[in-house]
Amino acid sequence: MDTSVENQTDIVVSREDGVLTIAFNRVAKKNAITVAMYQAMADGLAEAAADTSIRVVLIRGDAQIFSAGNDLADFARNPPRGDDPPVFQFLRGMAKASKPIVAAVSGAAVGIGTTMLLHCDLVYAGANARFSLPFTQLGLCPEAASSLLLPQLAGYQRAAEKLLLGEAFDANEALAMGLVSRVLPAEEVNAFALAQAKKLAALPSASLRVTKALMKDANRSAVLARMDEEGAQFGKMLGAPEAREAFAAFMEKRAPNFAQFN
Ligand code: COA
Repeated sequence: MDTSVENQTDIVVSREDGVLTIAFNRVAKKNAITVAMYQAMADGLAEAAADTSIRVVLIRGDAQIFSAGNDLADFARNPPRGDDPPVFQFLRGMAKASKPIVAAVSGAAVGIGTTMLLHCDLVYAGANARFSLPFTQLGLCPEAASSLLLPQLAGYQRAAEKLLLGEAFDANEALAMGLVSRVLPAEEVNAFALAQAKKLAALPSASLRVTKALMKDANRSAVLARMDEEGAQFGKMLGAPEAREAFAAFMEKRAPNFAQFN
């Protein structure tokens, strides 16, 4: 049975057969994530953790776009403040989740659109998926513990290429790096991921929980510590002239000029 609950217009949280789905619903802005959306996503994860009838979480966009990452305008207006802003609540919720998280990625997955996948258990990508980690291009540094998890997953050199240059890569490269579990035709990804999530939800939840904990626990405190370290650097860099120039350039639809900074 599908009992959809609309938390926020831009994030739709729904439940079906033990699966709680968090869906991006801001296609006109390429599913760029605002503070309000992070809060809705963090709340969705907390709801899934607390509700015994929910066994699996699914995160998805639509068939053309997963997420353009942080909403750069909203981010410049409302930078993360304090120890527990919504973006950290969301990321910590992902890192601490004891229930499996499945992701369905079609189209662009930029910045946190890619780094959140490092915290998912099953990641299905459409053949049209494009991943990118453009932190250096924005005068920023990695987040979501991606500076730890991506080298662990893909090896240092491959991770360094993606995190230092920030250039986009396709679904097959993401598969070769171990970032995704399987590549599918774009129009099949969301349905396939939901079917896989329902398969998981039909299995004994204690077995899922223990299996996931056995795979994840050894790294968990290092992941949370790295998120804090990255967050401190990211926060400082967000206010620096390089990031301001990069954000202004994006809004003004022009190339940034970093030559003016030492
Ligand atoms: N923040 C705020 N607005 C964004 C955005 C973002 N991250 N990504 C896209 N948008 C907005 C655009 O400003 C545009 O708004 P407008 O129609 O009012 O002009 C709209 O979404 C469509 O984006 P557009 O760039 O025209 O779409 P595209 O299909 O050509 O490209 C992307 C899609 C995702 C590749 C491209 O939008 C992009 O690179 N976005 C920035 C990604 C980014 O740097 N994220 C931050 C990571 S930390």
